[in-house]
Amino acid sequence: MPSAINRQWILSSRPTGLVGPEHFTLREGAMPVPGPGEVLVRTVLLSLDPANRAWMSPTPTYKAPVEPGDVMHGFALGEVVASNDPAFAPGDLADGMIGWQDFAAVPAAELTRRSPGHRPEHLMGVLGVTGLTAYFGLLEIGLPKAGETVLVSAAAGAVGSIVGQIARLKGCRVIGTAGGPDKCRWLMDELGFDAAIDYKAGGVRRALKQAAPDGIDVYFDNTGGEVLQAALFLMNERGRVVACGNVSQYNAERPEPGPMGVPGLMVVKRLRMEGFIVTDFYHRREPAERELAAWVASGAVKAAEDIVDGLEGAPVALSQLFEGRNRGKLLVRVSNPTA
Ligand SMILES: NC(=O)c1ccc[n+]([C@@H]2O[C@H](COP(=O)([O-])OP(=O)(O)OC[C@H]3O[C@@H](n4cnc5c(N)ncnc54)[C@H](OP(=O)(O)O)[C@@H]3O)[C@@H](O)[C@H]2O)c1
Repeated sequence: MPSAINRQWILSSRPTGLVGPEHFTLREGAMPVPGPGEVLVRTVLLSLDPANRAWMSPTPTYKAPVEPGDVMHGFALGEVVASNDPAFAPGDLADGMIGWQDFAAVPAAELTRRSPGHRPEHLMGVLGVTGLTAYFGLLEIGLPKAGETVLVSAAAGAVGSIVGQIARLKGCRVIGTAGGPDKCRWLMDELGFDAAIDYKAGGVRRALKQAAPDGIDVYFDNTGGEVLQAALFLMNERGRVVACGNVSQYNAERPEPGPMGVPGLMVVKRLRMEGFIVTDFYHRREPAERELAAWVASGAVKAAEDIVDGLEGAPVALSQLFEGRNRGKLLVRVSNPTA
């Protein structure tokens, strides 16, 4: 049995701009005791996501905000230590909203048991929320066809890197935007993107026009902001904009107004722009995970993870996510599974 001390990162104050370690306090408490129907889990891998910042704002998103004084909310993979529900047994791996802490007592109904046959890092990345977001967002909302041009923003990140590779598998020409020349080289040399644009270098619209001489058919939008604005002008008739996230605005005190061209360009070009939350598709996650796992096993999709060791590093790593320090899925390794 590991140490019974439960370290917890508490939200000490709400950020008004960029999130940083000053908004969190580390507290130590006793390991919780699971109540009836609850499962005690030890955190193995904590997912760091742009959405963490959105949950720190007072405005509700698709879930209630974290309140100052609460343990920071976070999606994580845990190992079951003790269970008061017959669906879980010690040693099982399960994911859910475990939070930024070593241990949590979670109602069994809020946990998903995960197959032990995969690397834990994959369960939290390409075979988890990240991969499913890319898979369903691109294939069900973007509806890419072979020969079409697909643009994805935050392309070197967790979701974006998988979107680009699936689009390539479907026979599309794939363009990504990412921050910095190293990330752009990596997208083309390692992940097979046809073109990559460093949005931090400026001139995004001109660079996009050069990279997409035949226009854009599907734009998978992870960022909103400048790339969305530029993409709308280059969309082809009946193009599809997959509204996945808005990371360029999560730290903004006042989010920018919506892009020019809405609704005018959408009308003229007959565009469709549709948002989604990955859980909308969870009833179909098993076959999707199987297909993603087969792509990873065959090498058709490369899963990239960026791993920070130790729960103590979570606040700094979250602020670095917004500086673009990660390539692929950003995870904090809190402990190792015993099995
Ligand atoms: N709809 C859903 O169900 C769902 C599910 C999961 C995630 N999402 C959304 O998907 C998007 C990607 O999430 P992820 O987990 O894959 O994160 P991620 O891409 O791994 O990490 C965020 C990346 O965004 C880029 N970024 C940060 N600040 C930016 C800014 N101001 N402008 C432009 N780019 C910025 C950074 O890369 P650069 O170096 O390129 O700047 C950073 O690496 C997010 O918007 C997230 O909220 C949606």
